[in-house]
Amino acid sequence: MNQVDIIGLGEIVLDWVAEIPHFPQPDEKIDAKSENYFPGGVTANYLVAIGRLGGSCGFLGAVGDDSYGNFLINDLINENIDISFTIKKKSMITPVNFIFIANGEKSIIQSPHMQSTKLDIHDVDEDYIANSKVLHTTLIHSDISNFAIKIAKRHNIKVSIDLESQIAKRGWNNLKEMLLMADVLIPNKEGAKTITKQNNPENSAKVLVKKGIPIVIITLGSQGVLVTTSDFQKRIPAYHIKKIVDTTGAGDTFNGAFSFAYWIKGWDLERACKFANGAASLKIQKLGARTGMPDEKKLLDYLKLVDPNFFD
Ligand SMILES: Nc1ncnc2c1ncn2[C@@H]1O[C@H](COP(=O)(O)OP(=O)(O)OP(=O)(O)O)[C@@H](O)[C@H]1O
Ligand SMILES: [Mg+2]
Repeated sequence: MNQVDIIGLGEIVLDWVAEIPHFPQPDEKIDAKSENYFPGGVTANYLVAIGRLGGSCGFLGAVGDDSYGNFLINDLINENIDISFTIKKKSMITPVNFIFIANGEKSIIQSPHMQSTKLDIHDVDEDYIANSKVLHTTLIHSDISNFAIKIAKRHNIKVSIDLESQIAKRGWNNLKEMLLMADVLIPNKEGAKTITKQNNPENSAKVLVKKGIPIVIITLGSQGVLVTTSDFQKRIPAYHIKKIVDTTGAGDTFNGAFSFAYWIKGWDLERACKFANGAASLKIQKLGARTGMPDEKKLLDYLKLVDPNFFD
């Protein structure tokens, strides 16, 4: 078994991406401007963001025993992501997501196999988690997530949770046991709104911190992020991008770069968020969830240009 600093527990999928001039009406046929497929999945993207920056990480999750599954696993290997506990399941089907991009804005149709292609409890290796530093998950498969998070807590491993609105719809009562074990919770704006029923991100974050989550970072798309702890609340703006090509994976890139900077490099919250905003802004200038994810040199060169204060 390999030892890694950061473990991502969750989903990996194939993204079919079409750029379209507009969304078709019922019965309308339109020509796509481009058609591509890319490796994707929120958790796998998160790990690739870390791997590109030079972090050591591994994927805890499942694919089907099919050609898409092979493609995704080979891609993880190429990205230097540990796959000791990436399981190929005969009875399962690798999920495919359909992503449509019109004017830089994405719409996603998620695979029905996303829920069913998953690990069993006995696939989760306690030593793998105990020997890491951070366990990050999207909570997509509640039973497995709960089991793995409890292992992490038993061994004092940091827990990072990405909460998207689709998962947040399960409601506070169904998720609270896991959310309250998070050392850092990173919902996007919709996730924060859905879980707290607060319209304003500042209020959402305060509610979550008051419930006992030590660090809440709400990602706000073009507005950057809002960081909240019990004694600190601050917005950290995104970098301005003239031409946005594809925002798919922006949050995953932010989360990966943040985890690497905060938990592994040990930077403070603000500096780690700036670094992660920078990584996400490079990502959104390229088509595909992972294409634009930078290596560390590229990111630091970019920050020199857009935010010289970062180096103070
Ligand atoms: N239009 C933009 N301009 C600059 N930065 C952006 C823009 N959109 C996203 N970002 C960067 O990406 C981060 C995450 O974006 P967002 O809040 O949209 O995440 P998300 O909804 O989880 O996205 P995804 O599901 O695609 O990963 C932002 O906090 C910001 O750093
Ligand atoms: Mg996201």
